[in-house]
Amino acid sequence: MTSSSPMAPRDAASIAARGTRGVSSMKAIVQDEYGTDAGRVLRVEEVGRPTIRDGDVLVRVTAASVDRGTWHLMTGLPYPIRFAGFGLRAPKALNPGRSVAGTIESIGDDVTEFRVGDEVFGTCAGSFAEYARAEPGRLAIKPANLSFEHAAAVPVSAQAALQAVRDHGQVQAGQNLLVVGASGGVGTFAVQIAKAFEAEVTGVCSAGKADMVRALGADHVVDYTHEDFAEGNHPYDVILDIGGNRRLSHLRRALTPRGRLVIVGGETGGRWLGGVDRQLRAQLLSPLVTQKLGTFVARENAEDLTVLRDLIEAGKVAPAIDRTYPLGEAPAAIRYMEQGHARGKLVITV
Ligand SMILES: NC(=O)c1ccc[n+]([C@@H]2O[C@H](COP(=O)([O-])OP(=O)(O)OC[C@H]3O[C@@H](n4cnc5c(N)ncnc54)[C@H](OP(=O)(O)O)[C@@H]3O)[C@@H](O)[C@H]2O)c1
Repeated sequence: MTSSSPMAPRDAASIAARGTRGVSSMKAIVQDEYGTDAGRVLRVEEVGRPTIRDGDVLVRVTAASVDRGTWHLMTGLPYPIRFAGFGLRAPKALNPGRSVAGTIESIGDDVTEFRVGDEVFGTCAGSFAEYARAEPGRLAIKPANLSFEHAAAVPVSAQAALQAVRDHGQVQAGQNLLVVGASGGVGTFAVQIAKAFEAEVTGVCSAGKADMVRALGADHVVDYTHEDFAEGNHPYDVILDIGGNRRLSHLRRALTPRGRLVIVGGETGGRWLGGVDRQLRAQLLSPLVTQKLGTFVARENAEDLTVLRDLIEAGKVAPAIDRTYPLGEAPAAIRYMEQGHARGKLVITV
């Protein structure tokens, strides 16, 4: 059955178990053009609820969170993302928002992983809305000890942090790890996950956030406005470069001869490359030097959400939330994130 096919007749018990799939309306943030002014490009509208295919679920959204990807898709910048299938002149996806926490409202005929009423967190298309269609493979049961608001802060940023620490940094117990951009959405998770991996963690952030980064578990904090982490005798086994756009030579100076540099991100504002040039150079240089230099695009998957849920329920990781905004103020949340100095995550409540 496709999303447009009529619902097959079912008995009452089956409908109760799968939820109703009827189309009715909902409030959602809507965007039909690219632009840098969130207040102009994004608006709240009454739209039809998403219909689901047999392999999908419909989530009644309680909270969502903002990340840099939302901004990139709002602006269509840097330009190469428009050629990557997101829409050349205007966005193909009309509802922004990726991270989600909420309750399963209905399930497609082929879904076995979830039941109606399950409380979940994960990623989907269009989470800045009352309802969102999601793939079961990008959702997991919400951590029992988190509110929906806190759970919504986790998916995009914590999956990136987990994959940076575990898969690309291959962080081992006792290693010296530097997290550049430790106070932001990804960095606050990276510090905690690296401590759970028993690394010696140094966080780089601005002075006003040093206490927060220490409270997250960092053993040392470097205030980038006053100190240079590449100075002195602290060569790092692994560097996660999340913010600040340091030159590759600068980052390499702070690494051990066989150390690993993982470029997670960094916003330059460049309309064509937006920082990707540094990542490409790192990958080109890596085979020629003893250090391992690289970058990655995080994978959204249920397995990593489950790993994160275990870390959260064990008390080893907790989302740091800076501000919470109601759905109608999503443009204000994006404007605040754009400044690049949030203390952890920004959450949207629905
Ligand atoms: N590879 C992937 O799959 C993936 C996934 C998610 C995100 N990302 C990317 O990761 C990057 C960060 O995302 P985010 O959500 O963490 O952003 P964010 O919440 O805006 O955080 C940015 C961080 O950078 C810090 N920073 C700013 N200037 C700095 C400097 N000169 N030196 C050191 N730190 C500095 C800020 O610290 P202060 O506030 O203390 O200045 C802040 O902690 C973005 O480029 C995003 O696109 C990549």
